Amino acid sequence: MTSLSPEGLNGLLAWLQEAQLGLRALLHALGLAPDLHGQPAWPFAQRIAGEMLALDAGHARQVATSLACLLLALLTVAVSLFWRRARYGLWTGAVAVLLLAPWPDSRLLLAPAVPTSLHTSPSGFTADSIVRGQAVYQQQCLRCHGADGKGEGVDAAQLPMWPPTLNGSLLWKRLDGELFWRIRHGMQARDGSTTMPGFGQQLSDTQVWQVLDYLQANASGQTLQESGAWTYPVRMPDARVLCRQGAHRTLRELTGQRLRIAAEDSNLQDDPRLVTVHLGAAAPDAECQADVPALRTALALVVGVPAAQLAGNQLLVDRGGWLRARGQPGKAAWSVDDLVCRTTTVASAAPKGDGLDGLIRRMDDEPVRLLRGGFPH
Ligand code: HEC
Repeated sequence: MTSLSPEGLNGLLAWLQEAQLGLRALLHALGLAPDLHGQPAWPFAQRIAGEMLALDAGHARQVATSLACLLLALLTVAVSLFWRRARYGLWTGAVAVLLLAPWPDSRLLLAPAVPTSLHTSPSGFTADSIVRGQAVYQQQCLRCHGADGKGEGVDAAQLPMWPPTLNGSLLWKRLDGELFWRIRHGMQARDGSTTMPGFGQQLSDTQVWQVLDYLQANASGQTLQESGAWTYPVRMPDARVLCRQGAHRTLRELTGQRLRIAAEDSNLQDDPRLVTVHLGAAAPDAECQADVPALRTALALVVGVPAAQLAGNQLLVDRGGWLRARGQPGKAAWSVDDLVCRTTTVASAAPKGDGLDGLIRRMDDEPVRLLRGGFPH
């Protein structure tokens, strides 16, 4: 049995996610899914296990085939309403299709859910939110999770279990809304004993979303430093900008254009292929300028360097708002190796050339997408 193509798998996951969100919206409209922390609650104890589907293309194919069988059976029954003479044959066919469908094990299909499972962060991944989240982390989390997020804080050794490293893939395997829940309510071992305390009393909802933004920025920077790549796509942190032309007030409003973020490099000339955003001091007629201290802190986290070493770095942002390439200080020209966030699904063989043109062609032709808990985000 061939397995599902990556595009097919993404399509299936997007469709299942839409179906879950649609169900939640319907229940909300009927008054069956009350508001909780500003978004409709998920009223069920289970949700679709996107992470299992994303992990195992064979299993995903089985689910897709079963869904197709279900659709076919429903269609057959619908036809039987109009073609009455053939109805017994059609019903037998529908039953046979349902019996023959390769129904997956429900333990693989469903995962335990919490009321905020489908919640999404309202923070907008702004530089401000990341920096505020950093302060929350240092106050509340650092003692166990450690300054670097690897789980070796001063209190960690006394805990019944070591905190996990938050710098690897863990955050991306989870749904945002479930991490939100765990930070508010804490976590328990199988025997019911507390492994991590909850922070629902100490932290506001906003602060919990902020600390999650910080964790993601920090984990991205650590991954880049350790593996040389942003294995998981990182959005460009948002901040206010001042541009020579146009009335753009935030970086997010520039989505749709390619950006080049230049840290403390006032000599950089404009380039018609992208919008240059100067971080910090720039020539008075600079194309765009972002003189927001929080953005420098946030970008230093995302790159994984101390803020004092950010100067001279350049970052390229694609039209979707994703950070894609990093130019290190002192390097004269761009090369394809600077593309540190690559797509895993499109392996295009067409030659793209080198240099900035080659990078731009790749960013445009090979968009990336963020998965959280298997679902597109
Ligand atoms: C008293 C020590 C302690 C403190 C304080 C603490 N944690 Fe934890 N944290 C843990 C332990 C232990 C685990 C592993 C728990 C488990 O797997 O049952 C954990 C797990 C996690 C996880 C992984 C959750 C998952 O889905 O697997 C995240 C994220 C996390 N902590 C974030 C935070 C944040 C954010 C704070 C501060 C607001 C914080 N922690 C404060 C001990 C702590």
